[in-house]
Amino acid sequence: MAQETTGQFDSLLEEGRRFAPDPGFRARANFNDEGVYARAAADPEGYWAEQAQELSWFEPFQTVLKWDPPHAEWFVEGKINAAYNAVDRHRKGPRRNKAAIIWEGEPGDQRVLTYDMLGREVDKAAHMLRELGVKKGDRVTLYLPMIPELPIAMLALAKIGAAHSVVFGGFSAKALHERILDAGSTLVITADGGWRRGQVVPLKANTDQAVEGTQVRHVLVVRRVGEAAGARMVPGRDIDWQDMMAAMPTTPVPAEPMDSEALLFILYTSGTTGKPKGIVHTTGGYLVGANTSLRSVFDLKEDDVYWCTADIGWITGHTYVVYGPLTAGGTIVMYEGAPDFPDRDRFWSIVERYGVTILYTAPTSIRTFMKWGPHYPAAHNLDSLRLLGTVGEPINPEAWMWYRTHIGHDRCPIVDTWWQTETGAAMIAPLPGLTVTKPGSATRPLPGVFAEVVDEEGKPVPPGGAGYLTLTRPWPSMLRTIWGDDDRYRRTYWERFPGRYMAGDGAHVDEEGYYWILGRVDDVINVSGHRIGTMEIESALVDHPAVAESAVIGRAHEVKGQAISAFVTLKEGVPIEEELVVQLKQHVVDKIGALARPEEIFFTVELPKTRSGKIMRRLLRDIAEGRALGDTTTLADPAVVEELKRRYEERYEERE
Ligand code: WT7
Repeated sequence: MAQETTGQFDSLLEEGRRFAPDPGFRARANFNDEGVYARAAADPEGYWAEQAQELSWFEPFQTVLKWDPPHAEWFVEGKINAAYNAVDRHRKGPRRNKAAIIWEGEPGDQRVLTYDMLGREVDKAAHMLRELGVKKGDRVTLYLPMIPELPIAMLALAKIGAAHSVVFGGFSAKALHERILDAGSTLVITADGGWRRGQVVPLKANTDQAVEGTQVRHVLVVRRVGEAAGARMVPGRDIDWQDMMAAMPTTPVPAEPMDSEALLFILYTSGTTGKPKGIVHTTGGYLVGANTSLRSVFDLKEDDVYWCTADIGWITGHTYVVYGPLTAGGTIVMYEGAPDFPDRDRFWSIVERYGVTILYTAPTSIRTFMKWGPHYPAAHNLDSLRLLGTVGEPINPEAWMWYRTHIGHDRCPIVDTWWQTETGAAMIAPLPGLTVTKPGSATRPLPGVFAEVVDEEGKPVPPGGAGYLTLTRPWPSMLRTIWGDDDRYRRTYWERFPGRYMAGDGAHVDEEGYYWILGRVDDVINVSGHRIGTMEIESALVDHPAVAESAVIGRAHEVKGQAISAFVTLKEGVPIEEELVVQLKQHVVDKIGALARPEEIFFTVELPKTRSGKIMRRLLRDIAEGRALGDTTTLADPAVVEELKRRYEERYEERE
């Protein structure tokens, strides 16, 4: 496995600090009975059926689980609606006038939507979508900034039984194009632009390019930026969101009673091939997973102000900005822009301004805050905080401790939550009122979740060992398939270890049964908490006319977790010029998006290959991380890699 022998793992093994829940916190925690683990283990379906009662069903389910590996159906015959659960049911009781969304734009503008106001917006949007011909089962692509219209659009689609495919605003026109085609959307909802670090993100311009040559009939455009965006409306195709919304009635649109297994959304994520996977989530099980973890892991209470900083374009935003907290009737904070705009204390000023009590963010952000220095959070009153969470990548104990000290003031429990786009909701995480935490460990599988670490043969490794992280039983919020490619679903997740879900991560389990996630074991890398397939970047590079071949790896990076290193061979006769580095990086940005921009591009006349022609990325990682080369005996020509290492070290001599 790739990451097993890195320095970080050695330091994890020496980690001896423990933090027990504060008795006061425990006494008030939603989940404070240790027996929940044993009860869920004895009767997992019973446990999940009990959690499902927290949601409102139009018709009760008859069977908790139908498991025909690798296909699961949860809460069979139940009828439910996601928007009804996230909004409408709260409009009927005391939450009617409670803040659902406290939003802050990057320029400093603010909006607060109570559940009742949110419900009215969702109803108007549902009328509008119907008028535009959106029907039950249709898929609509959303390419929006972090503005309230994004959850409004998602919920309106869910209300009428249509599905969303949200594409993160940092993806390029080309990436959006592929995702629109794959989902078969005939409507795209975007904005003229979004604000990021004082600059306009050209969402409309990208959409104009992306819809060329697709089945898209209409583009609905939210005015967010105005003039400065320079967006041009295409007559007959483009529709102004605000204009059309203004003409809609606020009369309620009845929530469509959906089958528990009806498609709720598709969300694309990277895999080990060049083509992203459309992860399919359905309604009932997904909502149960999302809702349960808000109450258990995040201990959400009526008076909390909960802020998950993730963009809704990722699964974290789907589950922990929208469906989890809203189905639980919470108050969420939503922020549009960058953490360093106008200054590096923006997050802390938001926490102070709105009295945030629960904060959920990524290790890469925490490491960035560490680099910026503790005086930024220290300048703000963070006394409202009572619980901190992290997600997206392994958190190094040092960052965990910094988070605890400088943000949590040694008072807030930290929940390190391991999960994936595919799992839909947190799988391995502490219950903050019960679990003794260890810095750097996601601790134990949640009640009703069953994990095991196995070796190459699929045999469980004993405590103290490391191997492949698997889940041994189906869980409600699991992916149901890959959109349009059930065979890939089966091969990717269920074939390697029959009967088990293979997560694609390596993990170590210590003597006390705590899980320490070691990172991806496949050709997927994790840059600043964002998952990118090395093959996708390689395809983008070889698409450039100057490139003959490329190999992309993730090398350890202090802030980003991993940084993208590309090794490139050029076509005969193409001269090596610095200018080409700039061009190739831009080419990757155009093909995928800025999140995939290689940190470095290193030209070489040959790549290290086995005799059968397979590129040995493992050796490239050794080179980029400055380690002694691993086993080179299978190489066609060991001299290639020696030479490469020498030249690479010469070039990056001054790097730490
Ligand atoms: C991959 C999933 C679901 C959250 C956002 C990322 C890594 C996620 C942790 C954690 C160690 C983590 C894994 C996983 N990961 N959370 N707490 N500790 N690693 O979702 O894009 O689907 O990526 O993120 O490698 O497989 P994603």
